[in-house]
Amino acid sequence: MAKTSYIIMNKTLAFDVYGTLIDTNGVVDKLTEIIGQLAPSFANTWREKQLEYSFRRGLMNDYQHFGVCTQQALDYTCLFYEISLSSDQKSDLLAIYKTLPAFDDVVEALKNLSASGHGLYAFSNGNEEAVEGLLVAANIRDYFLGVVSVDTIKTFKPNPAVYTHFLNTTNAAANNAWLISSNPFDVLGAYNVGMNTAWVKRSEKALFDPWGIEPTITINSLAELNAGLQ
Ligand code: LAC
Repeated sequence: MAKTSYIIMNKTLAFDVYGTLIDTNGVVDKLTEIIGQLAPSFANTWREKQLEYSFRRGLMNDYQHFGVCTQQALDYTCLFYEISLSSDQKSDLLAIYKTLPAFDDVVEALKNLSASGHGLYAFSNGNEEAVEGLLVAANIRDYFLGVVSVDTIKTFKPNPAVYTHFLNTTNAAANNAWLISSNPFDVLGAYNVGMNTAWVKRSEKALFDPWGIEPTITINSLAELNAGLQ
């Protein structure tokens, strides 16, 4: 009888942080206290503008760390909605951004993925200090072998250089590495350098850009990731 051989598949997993592990809508409660019903729209514009600023700074070769994009996007959003926030209110909101909560499915999923022998990394536009702070505040830092930040090479996702930087830093081959993200632009960026991709479709209404490219897997919750990697 032929021997059965078991191969332990250790994959290198790059977890996007903001929006995938950490819930950027965690600012909505505080915003609701300050501006009432407008809070969800305000939070959405703030997040979209933060990302737009990172894209533009990347294209312009005018890097400032992600915290600057976040702060300038907050200023823009106040102008857009004609809302005047005091500097204390802005500081409070930016402080919350440093301790945003993890999504409910995160802890259990990270626990299972680590136990399955995968190498987990946080991979983010955020600088190392900001990402370390978020992971520690959310009590999930210990699941990760490390934090890989775009800050080291001073540009932003989805520049192919940042995904290559991830692969070089973690010593991973693209075909054994997975980018896990709820941000379609991030999934497309990782696809572009040959990585496997898991799109975390965190809401029914989330759309994937119609560029004729599909993520390797689409999941609704991180709980589905471990099975999807097989
Ligand atoms: C990040 C942003 C893109 O954490 O969500 O990299």
